[in-house]
Amino acid sequence: MEHAATPSTPAHGTPPDAAPLRGRFLSFEGIDGAGKTTHIDALEQRWRAAGLDVVRTREPGGTALAERLRELVLHQPMDALTEALLIFAGRRDHLQQVIEPALHRGALVLCDRFTDATFAYQGAGRGFDMATLQQLEQWVQQGRQPDLTLWFDIPPAVAAERLASARQPDRFEAMDQAFFERVNAGYRARQQAEPQRFLRIDANQSVDAVARAVQAELAARGW
Ligand code: TYD
Repeated sequence: MEHAATPSTPAHGTPPDAAPLRGRFLSFEGIDGAGKTTHIDALEQRWRAAGLDVVRTREPGGTALAERLRELVLHQPMDALTEALLIFAGRRDHLQQVIEPALHRGALVLCDRFTDATFAYQGAGRGFDMATLQQLEQWVQQGRQPDLTLWFDIPPAVAAERLASARQPDRFEAMDQAFFERVNAGYRARQQAEPQRFLRIDANQSVDAVARAVQAELAARGW
């Protein structure tokens, strides 16, 4: 498994140096079947072709350790607090090993899901205590948030149709439509709380139309 630094890096467990932060951090959100992967692929290609230092990563996962935790979170039954702790444990490792070093060297980090997913899935979807999630977020991220988040908003019924022919569902993909309605409501609440950072893209249209909407939103913000 490739990752940006080895677990024996001295920086593990210590805060990053006070180097100027020049990189940019873009995350992508949406319920399963929203189609975000297609658009992350296109942006990654475009920015790499433009010569940018792009780091493409994902959550849960993004490091060898966090990918192991991902396997557990997606496939092993567990209680809601255990699930939240494992997700944030993976996030801690991912931030220290990959995201923070990349931002410090000026890279563009494209992250397929980040903490907004935890508030949407564990918080709104499962009904897990939001205050506990906020506490974990503070411990783990110490203020780090994406500079910009694109939320691919799609009705659960449409997403379910798109997923119907897909592979074996994981623990989340197997949830019913009511669960994804709550997850979407969770994302909507994030968008209303932080409209500058958290942008809604209408994903219930053709791939081309969604790509144009993504372009327009990014261009409007100088990306
Ligand atoms: P996803 O990233 O969509 O991967 P794939 O496209 O390979 O299925 O799936 C990850 C799942 O994990 C998704 O159902 C959402 C869920 N998830 C959470 O419940 N909480 C989180 O904090 C994150 C990051 C993901």
